[in-house]
Amino acid sequence: MTATDISPVAINMAKNNHFDKKINFDVADFNHLPYNSNSLDILVGLDCVQHASNYNQLSKELSRVMKPGGRMAFTNWMKTYPDSKLVKVDPLCVALTESGFVIDGFYNFDEELKRQFKFYDLIYLNRALFQKVMGESLYTSLMNEACHLYQFNGTVSHYAFSVHKIIYPV
Ligand SMILES: C[S@@+](CC[C@H](N)C(=O)[O-])C[C@H]1O[C@@H](n2cnc3c(N)ncnc32)[C@H](O)[C@@H]1O
Repeated sequence: MTATDISPVAINMAKNNHFDKKINFDVADFNHLPYNSNSLDILVGLDCVQHASNYNQLSKELSRVMKPGGRMAFTNWMKTYPDSKLVKVDPLCVALTESGFVIDGFYNFDEELKRQFKFYDLIYLNRALFQKVMGESLYTSLMNEACHLYQFNGTVSHYAFSVHKIIYPV
C-alpha cells in the first residue's frame, strides 16, 4: 500500500504518525503519478481531487494507472443533486465517465456535517473554557475549519463515491 500527497510536509506528518510500517509514502502529483500503466487495483482519494485544475487531465491519468476492473473511492464537495443527476452534471463525474470509469454510487455526508456544525457551535459558545482546555492553537485551528466549512452549508454536499474502470473487451 502506498500513500501519496503533493506536499512533502503532509507526507512527513503522515510518516511521523507511526502508521503501519508496511505503508510506503510517496510525494506525488495526482496529475502525473509515478506508477506504471494498468498497475493499481484500488485507489482512495480523501478530500483532495477538488484541487485538480483540470478534471480531464486527472481522469485520464487515473485511467492510465488503474487496472481494468480496478476500483476508486473519493470523498469530495459537490453541488447537491439527486444521485442520478450528479453522474451527468458534476464535472468530475463527467470527466471520469469520459475516461472509461463507471460511477457505482454516492453516499451523502450532510447529516454528519449538521452534527459537525453543532459541535463547532458548542465549542464557540463555550470558547473561554475550550481555549483553556485545548490550548489557543487547537481552538483557532478548529474555528478556521468551521469557517471553511460554513461557506458550503446548504449549497454543496459532502459526498463519498466509488467508481470502477471498465474492462474493455479483448
Ligand atoms: C483537504 S487536504 C486532505 C488531506 C488528506 N487526504 C486527508 O484526508 O486528511 C487536501 C490535500 O490535497 C493535496 N493536494 C493538492 N493538490 C494535489 C496534487 N496535485 N497531487 C496530490 N495531492 C494534492 C494537498 O497537499 C493536501 O494535503
